[in-house]
Amino acid sequence: MAGLKGKDILHGNQFTKKDIEAIMKVAAEFEKELKGKGALNLLKGKILATLFFEPSTRTRLSFEAAMQRLGGGVIGLGSLEGSSVAKGESLTDTARTVAQYADVIVLRHPRQGSAKEAADAVPIPVINAGDGAGQHPTQALLDIFTMRKELGTLKNLKVCLAGDLKYGRTVHALAEVLSLFGARLFFVSPAMLRMPEEITASLRGRGMEVTETEDLFQAASQCDLIYMTRIQKERFSDLGEYEKVKGSYVIDQEFLSRLKKEITIMHPLPRVDEIHPEVDGYAGAAYFRQMRNGIFIRMALLAMIFGKR
Ligand code: NCD
Repeated sequence: MAGLKGKDILHGNQFTKKDIEAIMKVAAEFEKELKGKGALNLLKGKILATLFFEPSTRTRLSFEAAMQRLGGGVIGLGSLEGSSVAKGESLTDTARTVAQYADVIVLRHPRQGSAKEAADAVPIPVINAGDGAGQHPTQALLDIFTMRKELGTLKNLKVCLAGDLKYGRTVHALAEVLSLFGARLFFVSPAMLRMPEEITASLRGRGMEVTETEDLFQAASQCDLIYMTRIQKERFSDLGEYEKVKGSYVIDQEFLSRLKKEITIMHPLPRVDEIHPEVDGYAGAAYFRQMRNGIFIRMALLAMIFGKR
């Protein structure tokens, strides 16, 4: 996409390998620069607006922290009930309003395609922080940054994406990003929650080797890394269907000792029951380090969007 200045960030497929390498390089620089300094002054006077129509802990707070660490300011709606959203205002009208007060919008919304809709309606950059079961591109960037840190390289990766591949926006975006690095992918899910056909077909069309299976142990035995995800309960229209698949996969001590090898475990969080807390002390358990990387990647994205890197 040749530079991020002034650009929206909407989809995992919008980046080239060069873009991602540049973003990771800036993120690594910020990580170093922040040590010793509390904050930098790059974005003084700029304002980021968070528009979150779905729950969030890591994404919203790490964007806010990233902006503040860069010297910029942050505004947000607080509760939706306290804003005109409660009066029935449309997303595009809300976005147009916010665009009068801020220089960049970070949006999370339950409807797939909503980030693109908002981006088309406003003159300032929009960052997709999750559009329903669609995409979550900034998560994919922090995920690949974490993979490189944890494994030392992105060459010849063998990765299991496991859990809810149907509704999980993190894995949709991550699969796109991983495809640029030629990873060997294993998609592990219950039959009901398979990766959308158009994503799998598009990856295969680009020459990627993708294996689909329901057997986590068998796939994990062939991989360097398991990227585990939560079954997205809120996306099921029939909770009876959710009951059938909840608890499908659990990584615990017993699973790891059966595996008989070191493996890296990532998760975008929040987890429900798919990674037992007894695994948290395991050397390969990278999910807490992963969430920390979110701040460096989001600092890099913001600095680059404003042309400061
Ligand atoms: C994810 C999300 O919101 O898509 N969380 C995150 O941003 N780290 C994953 C999830 O909710 O399961």
